[in-house]
Amino acid sequence: MTGQTPDPAAQFKQQAAEYAAAFVKDGMAVGLGTGSTAKFVVAELGRRMREEGLRFCAIPTSDATEAQAREEGIPLTTFAQHPYLDLAIDGADEIEPVTLNLVKGRGGALLREKIVAAAAKQFVVVADASKYVDHLGMLCPVPVEVVPFGWESAAARLAALGAQVAPRKHANGSFYLTDEKNLIMDCIFGPITDPDALSRSIYAIVGVIEHGLFLHMATQTITAGPEGIKVLD
Ligand code: 5RP
Repeated sequence: MTGQTPDPAAQFKQQAAEYAAAFVKDGMAVGLGTGSTAKFVVAELGRRMREEGLRFCAIPTSDATEAQAREEGIPLTTFAQHPYLDLAIDGADEIEPVTLNLVKGRGGALLREKIVAAAAKQFVVVADASKYVDHLGMLCPVPVEVVPFGWESAAARLAALGAQVAPRKHANGSFYLTDEKNLIMDCIFGPITDPDALSRSIYAIVGVIEHGLFLHMATQTITAGPEGIKVLD
């Protein structure tokens, strides 16, 4: 991992990822998430294919995950062939343990991630235990994907909902573009006490395509930390 900051939580992410990868069974159509934890899932599924003869097909949630899945030799499928998926496994930036509501999208893949999660009969979230929060919005901004045209207007309306809004940019100052060629507004709301109401308000803004509040979607969360593996459903 030359040139990258070591991730102190990496071993916990790997433990959670490998636990969840065991849920994939022969013949399944599986959604593959994005991010450092999802990477461990994809690697483990590649290993299981090679060493255990596991047979499944997958839809990746980002160009980066697609590249990794191809390297692992995982057969890819499409929504035309599989409009419904048996299972999706993905990471999260925040997990609210009572509701299993999430914030996702720090890796910029929230739109495809939400489409894949919504298509899946089971949506399993994998993370290290540092991702638990009492209220969403405590650790991370909520990313909101907007079309580039008129983004300043969408940003102003997000600010009017009470957020501190920053368009996501690369270190060189250029705008970050998602795989779908949209912009991301990172919105700091602080602790969110009514995520359903906030979700509705964000969706009502013209130009917003999707947001990173994943509400009532996760069927199970698997986290790993110093106390071991914890499964919530
Ligand atoms: C990408 C995501 C990731 O799943 C989320 O950011 C968690 O990433 P990591 O596993 O690297 O902590 O939502 O859009």
